This record gives sequence, structure tokens and C-alpha cells, in this order.
Amino acid sequence: MKPDRDAPIGVFDSGVGGLTVAREIMRNLPSEKIVYFGDTARVPYGGKSRENIIRYSRQIIHFLMEQQVKAIVIACNTASAFALEAVRDEFDVPILGVIEPGARVAAAETKNRRVGVIGTVGTVDSGIHASYLKKLDPDITVISKACPLFVPLVEEGWLHDPVTAEVTARYLQEFKDKDVDTLILGCTHYPLIRSVIREFMGEEVRLVNPAYETALELRSLLENKKLLNTGGKNEEFPYRFYVSDLAEKFRAFAGSILPYDVEMTKKIDIEKY
Ligand code: DGL
Repeated sequence: MKPDRDAPIGVFDSGVGGLTVAREIMRNLPSEKIVYFGDTARVPYGGKSRENIIRYSRQIIHFLMEQQVKAIVIACNTASAFALEAVRDEFDVPILGVIEPGARVAAAETKNRRVGVIGTVGTVDSGIHASYLKKLDPDITVISKACPLFVPLVEEGWLHDPVTAEVTARYLQEFKDKDVDTLILGCTHYPLIRSVIREFMGEEVRLVNPAYETALELRSLLENKKLLNTGGKNEEFPYRFYVSDLAEKFRAFAGSILPYDVEMTKKIDIEKY
């Protein structure tokens, strides 16, 4: 059965990070329903191998297809870096990642052509942001750095904490020293500690959160495919949340950062898919 305009959008991440993307979809495409999956049993993805990330992504996409989604957003840079190309043509619905949209904003906004990228070890080692940025503008100098402690700090909920501020200073001093004017938050968890990053980097540095651009790209993709929902949600639970572990912890966290009361999160056995 072909998906229709009324079908939900599938969004997934290793954990809570993808909520920063779901939040922008909720704001910018308010008529759309969302099925969110957070792989809380297997978070973090950042230090895992390409093979595993591809296997996890396939399982999650199979689950989302069972929910009859009309499009999928890989709201995770690590999974976008490793799995997007591998899975894109395997499924019957359009699949979007978050890396290209972020690179586009950064290339358009940098003035001194010195762009920083922070992300997980997997994303940074893949070099994928740098290759998109260089394609957009070969004169851009890209300085990338993995910040592996950020994801556990976010998952722990230490969003405004002196420990997070200290770790931020250790990781990001290099970007100040190298005079970047634009910094891509290349992990969907990082916008949740944006205020700490902003405080350290100062107002002059442009912080790029690819979530907004991704939501806009999703809208034009749905428009082109005549899948944009213009009607309205008319449903009791327009946003449904699934995780692979610790459903209540996830629900409480999601409720604290979304402009919406998260009433229910369900745990599913993702290894079945
Ligand atoms: N939020 C994810 C990303 O954008 C994954 C973080 C992790 O699980 O290590 O890369």
C-alpha cells in the first residue's frame, strides 16, 4: 500500500538527541504526525562500528515501516554518516539525513571560511561534513573534533551543569584558538547543551543546529512527492514514542524538552526486526 498524506513521519536516533529534530518538525510542519524511535538500549552510537550502525538503522527502519510511515528522518549524524547511503534505496519511502542540511547552512553563513565541526567519534572520523563543505566551497577550512563525553552528559540530563561547562571548555578551546566563525553541532544531542556551548564560544560564533534546515528540507520533499499533510492531525496521539529500553526515563526527558506533553512511550524489542 502506498503511503498517503495522512501517514506519519518516522524519526529516529540512538536516544534523546533526535528529539531536537522532532521538535523542529513539530514547529515547522504542525499538521504532521510523528513516530519517534530512540534506541536507548544501544546508545551511544558514536563509538560503534559502521556495520553495527547500519544493522541498527535497518532494524529501526523496518520497525518504522511497520508503522506505515510516509518518510523517514535519520535524526542522528552518526547513523546519517554510516547508514544513509546504504539504506536509502532499500526502502519504498524517502529517507533523509541531517548532515547535508547542516553543511549547507554553515557554508552559506561562514564569513572567514573557517568552519568547526563537533560530533561523535564515528561522525568525525567519517569526514563526511568536511567532504560536503568542500564540495560546496573548496576554500573552506574545516576543523573537526569528536566530543564523546557530550552524549552521556546529555543523556544524564546535565544540560546546565558546571561539569558540562568544564568539559565544553576542554573540547572547544581549540576552535577559539583556530578562529572558526561557524561551528556545526554535528550530533543531534548537542543542541540540548547549546546554551553552555554558546556561553563558552561567545555571541560572535554562529552555532549551526541542522534540525531547522532538516525540517525545511523534509517539507519540500513532502511537497514534491505530494505527501505534505495540509489537513491537520485530528488524532488523540499525533506523536508516538518508542524506545528499546527505559521507556519512563525517556518519557520524562522528552516531556521536559518538547513543547508538548508526552503522555506515553512504549518499549519494543528492536532485535526482532
Ligand atoms: N545523536 C547522535 C548523533 O547525532 C548519536 C549520538 C550517540 O549515540 O553517540 O550522532
